[in-house]
Amino acid sequence: MRASIERVTGGAGDDAALARAASLIRRGELVAFPTETVYGLGANALDESAVEKIFAAKGRPFADPLIVHLASADDVASVTASIPPGCRELMRAFWPGPLTLIMPRGAAVPRRVTAGRDTVAVRVPAHPVAQALLARAGVPIAAPSANRFSRPSPTTAAHVADDLGEALDLILDGGPTRHGVESTVLDLTSDPPVVLRPGAVTLEALREFVPGVAVTAEFETTRPYAAEKSPGTSMKHYSPNAEVRLWTGEAGEARAAMRHDAGQAIAAGRRVGALIVDEDAPAFDGLDVTLWRLGSERALDVVAARLYDGLRALDRARVDVILARDPGRTGLALTIRDRLFRAAEGRVLDSRR
Ligand code: TXA
Ligand code: MG
Repeated sequence: MRASIERVTGGAGDDAALARAASLIRRGELVAFPTETVYGLGANALDESAVEKIFAAKGRPFADPLIVHLASADDVASVTASIPPGCRELMRAFWPGPLTLIMPRGAAVPRRVTAGRDTVAVRVPAHPVAQALLARAGVPIAAPSANRFSRPSPTTAAHVADDLGEALDLILDGGPTRHGVESTVLDLTSDPPVVLRPGAVTLEALREFVPGVAVTAEFETTRPYAAEKSPGTSMKHYSPNAEVRLWTGEAGEARAAMRHDAGQAIAAGRRVGALIVDEDAPAFDGLDVTLWRLGSERALDVVAARLYDGLRALDRARVDVILARDPGRTGLALTIRDRLFRAAEGRVLDSRR
């Protein structure tokens, strides 16, 4: 592997690793670093050729714009053309933290970053290592999740190394990330503002500040998603190698349907895994299914934090099929549901039929 992995804690002992990381960023190279959501693959956002290296390393289409990370909300004017109404209140309430705000693009931001759009996605991350890196580098850092395109986002340095270890020089290892799902993306250039990607900040929390906030219609459906406004939310995404089958419907019915589905798949000679909350486990009693438990459905923050590692772990267990259950739409469930829907790539099954 080409990349060296440097352990960082957010404290004084990080000095040498941070100095190296900041110098790589300033020289137009890539560095992977932890944020409070998932690991990011960072480059100097104001350096077009550095930004192009991100797309090459990930195998990401140029049509999919990047998030610009800032050290502080005070820097917003350096990357935006104007600050939309209501924006300051949101920045005060949620930054530093897992909320990405779409604003009019400032002239300093290369078009590669925004995929040619006249809007730019901006966020101030809360993770101490991300904060320290931004402060040291002294430039805004463009960073998508540090996974190969269409793979589950990385929540540990090992996930980054598995996907991109040959494509960059340095991975800052800050341990497993806290939220485990990406930031919520809120478009402030439309009226009312619209959530393009549900994330670590819930819709309910946003509504306290933007009562009329809209969501793209696809989050309401039980049908496969179509890509539109936020190009990165295209359907093949967060996908393990195994076929993910997502069961919707009332919990009891969905569990019975999953058990039946597992039995049939096993009979057909397929290896079956299940990515489930603890409460679903008894449904698989006596069946040869590799269970990956995400914790209790009463603690969805823990379920979210373990989700991507679970998808990757079941891949490593070489199952052919991964069964999962629709967690609903309340709070973080909407975010978990969104990621499972995308991982399932349209294999969404209704247990009532
Ligand atoms: O938590 C996160 O947001 C992580 C960490 C590293 O900050 N980053 C992340 O980046 O998830 P990425 O590139 O994997 O996802 C960014 C999403 C994509 O869906 C992209 O299409 C959307 O934000 N996006 C970026 N700029 C946009 C813009 N100007 N208009 C609409 N959508 C945009
Ligand atoms: Mg991503």
